[in-house]
Amino acid sequence: MTGGENGKLKMKMRMVILNYYCLVVLGFIHLNHHHVVFGSYSSGVSTAYHHYYRQYAAQRIPTTTPPALITLSSRPPPISQSNSRVYHVTHYGADPTGRSDSTDALNRAISDACRIPSSSLNVNLLDGVADLGGSQLDLDGGTYKISRPLRLPLISAGNFMIHGGSLSASHDFPSDGHLIELHSSHSLISYEHITLKDLIINSNFRGGGIAILNSLRTTVDNCYVSHFTTNGILIRGGHETYVRNSFIGQHINAGGDPREKDFSAIGINIVGNDNSVTDVVIFSASVGILVSGQANVFQGVHCYNKAAALGGVGIYIRAPGFTQTRILNSYFDFTGIVAEDPVQLHVAGSFFLGNAFVSIKSLNGVVSAVNIVDNMFSGDYTGVPIVQLDQSNAPFTRIDQVVVDRNSVRGMTLKSTVARGSAWTNGTTWTVDFSRVLLFPNLIKHVQYTLHAAGATFPNHILRNISANRITVESDFPVSATLHASVDQSMVG
Ligand SMILES: *[C@@H]1O[C@H](CO)[C@@H](O)[C@H](O)[C@H]1NC(C)=O
Ligand SMILES: *[C@@H]1O[C@H](CO)[C@@H](O)[C@H](O)[C@H]1NC(C)=O
Repeated sequence: MTGGENGKLKMKMRMVILNYYCLVVLGFIHLNHHHVVFGSYSSGVSTAYHHYYRQYAAQRIPTTTPPALITLSSRPPPISQSNSRVYHVTHYGADPTGRSDSTDALNRAISDACRIPSSSLNVNLLDGVADLGGSQLDLDGGTYKISRPLRLPLISAGNFMIHGGSLSASHDFPSDGHLIELHSSHSLISYEHITLKDLIINSNFRGGGIAILNSLRTTVDNCYVSHFTTNGILIRGGHETYVRNSFIGQHINAGGDPREKDFSAIGINIVGNDNSVTDVVIFSASVGILVSGQANVFQGVHCYNKAAALGGVGIYIRAPGFTQTRILNSYFDFTGIVAEDPVQLHVAGSFFLGNAFVSIKSLNGVVSAVNIVDNMFSGDYTGVPIVQLDQSNAPFTRIDQVVVDRNSVRGMTLKSTVARGSAWTNGTTWTVDFSRVLLFPNLIKHVQYTLHAAGATFPNHILRNISANRITVESDFPVSATLHASVDQSMVG
């Protein structure tokens, strides 16, 4: 692909991104429209609305109220908060215009929403984790300025949702905080099945977006996290945090931003196990996703957070010696993957554009059980290898079961751990040089060859030399023949 073609592709991609952006904005307008309807509820009179609201509540919230009460009454009784587990922040005095500080109002609403109902049966969640019954903090489609992190109270509880609005950090928000914090620091306290959904989180360059610490089964869905200086989303401890269908960027842009070289923060910082990031775009950050932990999976992630040429990394896997990470069907857009001493890493079905590549970085010389297979790589024909070894700390000495194969490459240098080649000679030695394609220097663990000769002679022949990733076969008398050979660096050593 020429640079021009690449540029066009890039433009096309940007258009797609812009379209996506528009959809998100429209979605948000839609939410605001709902807010208008809900607003009439707070001023108090629309019977039709009450009816609608009850239906809505009946669908969404488990309630002990018999349905007959809803349908038989010509004038429905006012809804009391004790029946509903939806807590509207505007009822607590939060300012949906974002002009005045709403921290206290939001915290009061959270504290009510997290009050454990007396009817809680505690059969739905983990032993000792109280069921909040699907209670919801409804942001009523507003934008709220906050000056301190919104923290859930220190109780073991779950089945709770925060949704439907925007949060924005004030100019004095603590720079080490996150706007929403599931901060269960004590081992006896835990949150389970908390959902953060349909939110815009603007850190206003005062710290991070969302922190999920020691929590179980947390969902972040359809969130747009921006203007963070530390982490867009921090996941530490706990497990099974699912981040999906979200947009994360330090600076709001659609690529090609003049500030790109200064992007500094981390999009998603995962310090834990068993998490999943699915269908997420990271459009600006120094590192798109930083992973230190095992059994995490990344799927459908589009990273164009900061170009590799400017020092950015799409996904950085910092779990040396014990990696257990899968990266599937993702899109590395001018920024790549770095894995330190990876042991069990799978990268497949992904698209690397603009010379993006996978760097395997040696700390103690370990690379084991790594598959980089069935990906597409596209570059500008300047000779950038698709997989590179960073041996600046130490050479790789423990190489085992590394398979780099079946990648389709245009405009970059193919690297592989298996290769096939042939050479014709009319003589006694045949040499095939695999040094340009094989990933590891001077490492052929397995060779298969055949010598194909026409005519009636039967020369004896032998594999004479496999050093420097070249193989040489020698015969006992001259013959016109073709050597066919396949070599493999991935066999168990
Ligand atoms: C191979 O070399 C021999 C001796 O030099 C010559 O006689 C023969 O024609 C050559 N065969 C081919 C296929 O070039
Ligand atoms: C094997 O090949 C390497 C380089 O290709 C060479 O330095 C070495 O001398 C060869 N060894 C033998 C036994 O021919």
